[in-house]
Amino acid sequence: MLEPQTLQTPGDTDWFVQDRFGMFIHWGLYAMPARGEWVMMREETSRDAYLKKYFDRFDPDLYDPERWADAAANAGMKYFVITTKHHDGFCLWDSKHTDYKATKTPYGRDLLRPMVDAFTGRGLRTGFYHSLLDWQHPQYIVDYKTHPERDALEAIEGIGTSAGAATEPKGGRYDGTDLNAGRDQSRYAAYLRDQVRELLTEFGDVAVMWFDFSFAGDDRYPRDDFRFNKGREAWESEKLYAMIRELMPGVILTDRLDLELPLSGGDVKTPEQVQPKRWVTVEHEGKQVPVVWEACQTFSGSWGYHRDESSWRSVRQLVTTLIDCVSKGGNLLLNVGPTGRGEFDYRAIERLEGIGRWMHHHNRSIYGCTQAPDEFPCPTDCRLTYNPTTKRLYIHLLNYPYNFLQLDAPAYKERVEYAQLLHDASELSTELPPFFKHQLDPKGEKLVLTLPKTEPAGIEVPVIELFLKD
Ligand code: GLC
Repeated sequence: MLEPQTLQTPGDTDWFVQDRFGMFIHWGLYAMPARGEWVMMREETSRDAYLKKYFDRFDPDLYDPERWADAAANAGMKYFVITTKHHDGFCLWDSKHTDYKATKTPYGRDLLRPMVDAFTGRGLRTGFYHSLLDWQHPQYIVDYKTHPERDALEAIEGIGTSAGAATEPKGGRYDGTDLNAGRDQSRYAAYLRDQVRELLTEFGDVAVMWFDFSFAGDDRYPRDDFRFNKGREAWESEKLYAMIRELMPGVILTDRLDLELPLSGGDVKTPEQVQPKRWVTVEHEGKQVPVVWEACQTFSGSWGYHRDESSWRSVRQLVTTLIDCVSKGGNLLLNVGPTGRGEFDYRAIERLEGIGRWMHHHNRSIYGCTQAPDEFPCPTDCRLTYNPTTKRLYIHLLNYPYNFLQLDAPAYKERVEYAQLLHDASELSTELPPFFKHQLDPKGEKLVLTLPKTEPAGIEVPVIELFLKD
């Protein structure tokens, strides 16, 4: 067990903390507007308009999940998490409980099963992102916070909310009838359970159920007024949770179900679009306790395919993000938003290939690794990771040092028996020539590694591997 000190939860996280690196995939109808997965909400598109424009035209003719799986495996990813349904409610699989699914689009086929087959065929584990929100379901209560029709609701009800609702309802398409008349959220919650049951029984072993998300923090309104708050009452999270733990006890859950359990009933904490400063903790029984955690990050600013978004991160930045996660005992789930034709776009492919080149030489500093023991302080401009099984310590050089790397904590001197660059297994001398010894370590107390004068070519982040004595 890599992290014995973390909060114990029911899900099987043993493999998760070994594997460290997964691919998130946000894919659905929103690939077509190509303006991100929240487009329906942001542009206040009605369900009918959204269906007409996108559902009726969705035809990812170039979809080849074998190529996706290759790209993920070659990048060194060990699991994948696909949006079975995002907030717009569109389902990638042939669910018995809705017609709002891939098989009813012009494409006409199930998108999920071949994906699961392709990825598991490459040895990756399966994860399903499943949206708790659902903007198309006829029983789902229209709310003021995240719903595409929130402004219409405001216009009809005359409640000024200041809590997220914008100005005027767009499009003038609302006739004043109560948008929530006849809706029964508990029927939606039953639908949610029915679909999750399908996902957990028809696709083999599911390693992760990535639920997203709850919002129940508006205490001006009762928790069960679903126009303002949607938390465990709206999803009937207790029932959902009990069903899941019965069907697949070891599945890893995210912390977004809003249950009154540690980590909201989840097994992993899921910081999103931010890198934690240190190992993530939660308050538990009056103490801060470290937890299993996974940062989810994007290549650019969007989860769903965004044609015009140009703030793409460099390979070096992404590799550094992965290293940073592991150095703090966490995982990285890195997102791809495939296009409406069913391909990864060239920018994603470039980056995945770049990450794969780095991982080819350096995955030893990632898989099975975690935060380094405290006795090894992290040198300036570096990140450390540590493999407790092999007892090797990895120093990632984010900024290439001048000639030498000075490691002056006693543990380095006492416990390191051999040092090499990881990418080519070339020895790094620990013996200083007199001229330098005199200046850097006259008393012989430090470990000072002599590095090549120039940074190894073509390596985004060079890594030093230190072999430790017991
Ligand atoms: C969110 C967003 C979303 C994205 C997700 C990924 O909360 O609603 O669009 O799927 O987080 O973490």
